Amino acid sequence: MTSLSSGNEDDADIARMDDQHQIIMMKFGALYEAVGRGERQASISALILDMFEFTLSHFADEEELITKTGYPRSQEHKDAQTRLYAQAVDSYREYMENPLVSPLEVLGFIKQWIEDHVLTMDTDYRDFMAAGENRPRDYRPSP
Ligand SMILES: [Fe+2]
Ligand SMILES: [Fe+2]
Repeated sequence: MTSLSSGNEDDADIARMDDQHQIIMMKFGALYEAVGRGERQASISALILDMFEFTLSHFADEEELITKTGYPRSQEHKDAQTRLYAQAVDSYREYMENPLVSPLEVLGFIKQWIEDHVLTMDTDYRDFMAAGENRPRDYRPSP
């Protein structure tokens, strides 16, 4: 029987998270294009909700992973994601309820959200995991 577990499990986990980040960015691209085409609020809303749903499952997957690996900033990371998600939902509600809010404002918020999440916070756990055997075992998160 061919073993699929001979590869580095951390590498596979990192690749899975990278794939999910790519999907989030693709969904954002589709949303951006829909806004650019001037699509109706119902279509934009469906794309945003689809993106939120995928992002929520990504957050859950990622949180389980970073807890499992002993990443020292797991709680901090979870709290930040919970906060980000709540802010994104607020931004979406405002767009749905206030006709004066342009979808560009939601787009701007989500773009910022992706940059803060994928390009900043996630880079930190990624570096930690990629260190493999060389991870600092006695690392303690800052208070
Ligand atoms: Fe992530
Ligand atoms: Fe994250």
